[in-house]
Amino acid sequence: MLSGKDKSLIDYMASIPFDQRLYRHDIRGSIAHVNMLARQEIISHADAETIVNGLTVIMNEIEHGQFQFKLEMEDIHMNIEASLFEKIGDAAGKLHTARSRNDQIALDIRLFLKEQTQKTTAYLIDLQQAILDITETNKAIIMPGYTHLQQAQPILLAHHLLAYFEMFQRDKERFADCLKRIDVLPLGSGALAGVSYPINRLYLAQELGFSKISANSLDAVSDRDFVAEYEAAAALCMMHISRLAEELVIWSSSEFSFIEIGEAYTTGSSIMPQKKNPDVAELARGKTGRVYGNLMAILTTMKALPLAYNRDLQEDKQNLFDTIDTLHSSVNIFARMIKTVKFNAERIRDAIRRDYILATDLADYLVKRGMPFREAHHIVAQLSQYAIRKNKSFHDLSLKEYHDVSPLFASDVYTITLESSIATKNAIGGTAASQVEEELILARKLIENRDNEQ
Ligand code: ARG
Repeated sequence: MLSGKDKSLIDYMASIPFDQRLYRHDIRGSIAHVNMLARQEIISHADAETIVNGLTVIMNEIEHGQFQFKLEMEDIHMNIEASLFEKIGDAAGKLHTARSRNDQIALDIRLFLKEQTQKTTAYLIDLQQAILDITETNKAIIMPGYTHLQQAQPILLAHHLLAYFEMFQRDKERFADCLKRIDVLPLGSGALAGVSYPINRLYLAQELGFSKISANSLDAVSDRDFVAEYEAAAALCMMHISRLAEELVIWSSSEFSFIEIGEAYTTGSSIMPQKKNPDVAELARGKTGRVYGNLMAILTTMKALPLAYNRDLQEDKQNLFDTIDTLHSSVNIFARMIKTVKFNAERIRDAIRRDYILATDLADYLVKRGMPFREAHHIVAQLSQYAIRKNKSFHDLSLKEYHDVSPLFASDVYTITLESSIATKNAIGGTAASQVEEELILARKLIENRDNEQ
């Protein structure tokens, strides 16, 4: 309790403005704890029942906005305990037997983060589903593939979109892995040394749905590596969202005009009526920076803390909450926005009207006729420069012009097209339609198995 402190100090020290978000988890943990204490005959069954009833009333009050959180009660734990005293009197004093706020807050965060990580996974599946939907509807579109943002080789748009499916698949795997380390019961660690009562941690783990029990009480109350891990996975996931956002921004520019993003996800300019700004994508790109910052914050907060609990750890929560909220809203909004994207197939095709993007295929053509690749590369570079100078595409060149650079060219060189180029990329993971179809089938399976994953 923060009695005898002035307002500015109370403001500085209190966490209730943000940790009230943990009320459900805090009460759930307390109910399991008190039931365990009664089972183990550490407190009486009558006291336990009174406490559980009181906690249930408090839960209801909070849920209905009737609970008055008090700043001077510092945090969620003290607010609830103080209210319990008001409601049931002295029996409330028994709730905190064999427990410390240190293992209590560690428990609350783990319970909360377990729940949130499961949500993260479900939202990512929705986003993947949306990607599959637009991939399916735009399957036939051929687009320029880029390296260095220069046209490199023709690819299927479906192939490009499925690249994002893969990124979000790995993100999901990272969260699933992270969940294993979140899913550990810290309660029963006491302040740092463990507790001297005959508690039953196995019962607590079962009641609270944890797969593991922490093996070291100092570690359990003082580490937040699982928070950093979630934030790291979130930072990576936001990085993927941000790359997608960047492509939407580029593709919707008037220079590209590859796509149009649904009205709701863009804004007009106040002075330039022709503009349709991709604000939502830009915001996601911007918010990514904040999520990275949150990861830096928790790492820096932790880096020089001696064991065990230190009050610095109270600073873990705001950034974590911010990361979760930002990630979840970004993933949800992207899942919806992406479905409104209209691809301009003609315009995309037009962007590769000049077929210089087939240069690598021409080099491959020469290689298949016995020329070493390096030399073929050199020859086709010459050919490209010549064609560009003449303002002709490869298809417009005469066989004589081809022969001037290499006698290996024959009339079948004209059978090299965007379509044939794509069809030849038939090794596993390539852009050939059959490979993309294969990837789509596997992707759909991964999504259908969503229930097995969680
Ligand atoms: N509000 C604190 C936190 O978030 C709870 C634990 C306080 N423990 C203590 N010994 N003061 O970390």
